[in-house]
Amino acid sequence: MFIESFKVDSPNVNYTDTEIHSVYSYETTELVHENKNGSYQWTVKPKTVQYEFKTDAHVPKLGVMLVGWGGNNGSTLTAGVIANREGISWATKDKVQQANYFGSLTQASSIRVGSFNGEEIYAPFKSLLPMVNPDDIVFGGWDISDMNLGDAMGRAKVLDIDLQRQLRPYMEHMVPLPGIYDADFIAANQGARANNLIKGTKKEQVQQLIKDIREFKENNKVERVVVLWTANTERYSNVVVGLNDTTDNLMASLERNESEISPSTLFGIACVLENVPFINGSPQNTFVPGLIELAISRNSLIGGDDFKSGQTKMKSALVDFLVGAGIKPTSIVSYNHLGNNDGMNLSAPQTFRSKEISKSNVVDDMVASNGILYEPGEHPDHVVVIKYVPYVGDSKRAMDEYTSEIFMGGKSTIVMHNTCEDSLLAAPIILDLVLLAELSTRIQLKAQDETKFHSFHPVATILSYLTKAPLVPPGTPVVNALSKQRAMLENIFRACVGLAPENNMILEYK
Ligand code: NAI
Repeated sequence: MFIESFKVDSPNVNYTDTEIHSVYSYETTELVHENKNGSYQWTVKPKTVQYEFKTDAHVPKLGVMLVGWGGNNGSTLTAGVIANREGISWATKDKVQQANYFGSLTQASSIRVGSFNGEEIYAPFKSLLPMVNPDDIVFGGWDISDMNLGDAMGRAKVLDIDLQRQLRPYMEHMVPLPGIYDADFIAANQGARANNLIKGTKKEQVQQLIKDIREFKENNKVERVVVLWTANTERYSNVVVGLNDTTDNLMASLERNESEISPSTLFGIACVLENVPFINGSPQNTFVPGLIELAISRNSLIGGDDFKSGQTKMKSALVDFLVGAGIKPTSIVSYNHLGNNDGMNLSAPQTFRSKEISKSNVVDDMVASNGILYEPGEHPDHVVVIKYVPYVGDSKRAMDEYTSEIFMGGKSTIVMHNTCEDSLLAAPIILDLVLLAELSTRIQLKAQDETKFHSFHPVATILSYLTKAPLVPPGTPVVNALSKQRAMLENIFRACVGLAPENNMILEYK
């Protein structure tokens, strides 16, 4: 059975008009590795830590500024949200289609809240905590192309033509602010669309971005702004001692107008200085150490990298299942071809390299979790190929071959072929990223031995379900397995309303 909303009635949770306060027992373990009578032994000690969570119940009016607003993702997301808000339906050759938010964790997935009369009861994920309604978001942003969003939606060739026709009047007047173009960082083939640019030194460009954010906030009367990079994939920038390895060096490099500071890092600096959450949806190393340090020192949320939309999402579910089943993946080969502007940009070796790196570490934690299957340091062969094929447009093809060793020397090969519009996968993920980033800035927590509430660590690992190469604070484990990432997010939100983590034990019926 499905219910739309619920409230928790417990001594551990208190809802007021302004906040939700919860007390939560975090059941965890402590490990000891000690020498007992000449041999080392592991001991696991269960322990309970009391936490308190405080969630600000005021849902702000949210502005979302996209870098690369006029691209396929930016225009598709903007169009999708307007279509939902306006309740637009359109004719396809199959049926009359209604706007929806399918593919969004927050808007279209559910959580189990318990059993009632022998029936499992589910509720929308978004009913856990007060969240911004996507229909209320004000969109804006930057692009190096000055094309208005109505035309950009046409250029993207993603949405049905009858839908585009209805959306055009809403989108024609939306024109991206000038972006920062640096031919050294994206493929040379992008030069032709770069006609809308912020001039000046890098420092002046950062100052302009800060001005843009302030004006957007003021003009649209929004209380909070989240900025998300969905612009072209850049090449990796070199991380060099003295250049960008510390905040001081990065800021000094900005003063010197150093060429190795990428446009995406400039956006990151502007957002952190403005205390605006900044998320990187592309694979490049926007978050150089100096920028991470700046975000930590200013407690300003950063998250990334690279949307986990299709092939990698499947990989992080499938390899988790195989390794969890005691089956040993030994070779993973992934081919992609796509024909949109992202594909054209990725046809240059340096930008492809960013994508290759981001796609390649995704099975590491799953492999490391099973020492029965893998020797220390052993790893499956893992190859990623991406080719640009203009004819297929945004309808990306992903072909994967997984070969695994099974019982008694047998081999199992699974082959998959996925065809679908890339931007229709990415747009709901962008929505989740901005909604969850905003919500997570409203949550404060405190462990029993802490005297003061604090926000989550500014490097937002809570967003990792949505990213291919989750950015984590220095020295923190990276979790790629999809089900673990989802459970982390859901269980933290459950804790905020005093609910136990979903343990799937269903002991009531055992
Ligand atoms: P796109 O090429 O259609 O859009 C990118 C837009 O960014 C273009 O309009 C371009 O003019 C603009 N741009 C480039 N550099 C800029 C700058 N410095 N400042 C402002 N605007 C700039 O690409 P698409 O398909 O929308 O993808 C966007 C990004 O998302 C790419 O990096 C892609 O790799 C990444 N991504 C996409 C996924 C998907 O499923 N669609 C999945 C994972 C990542």
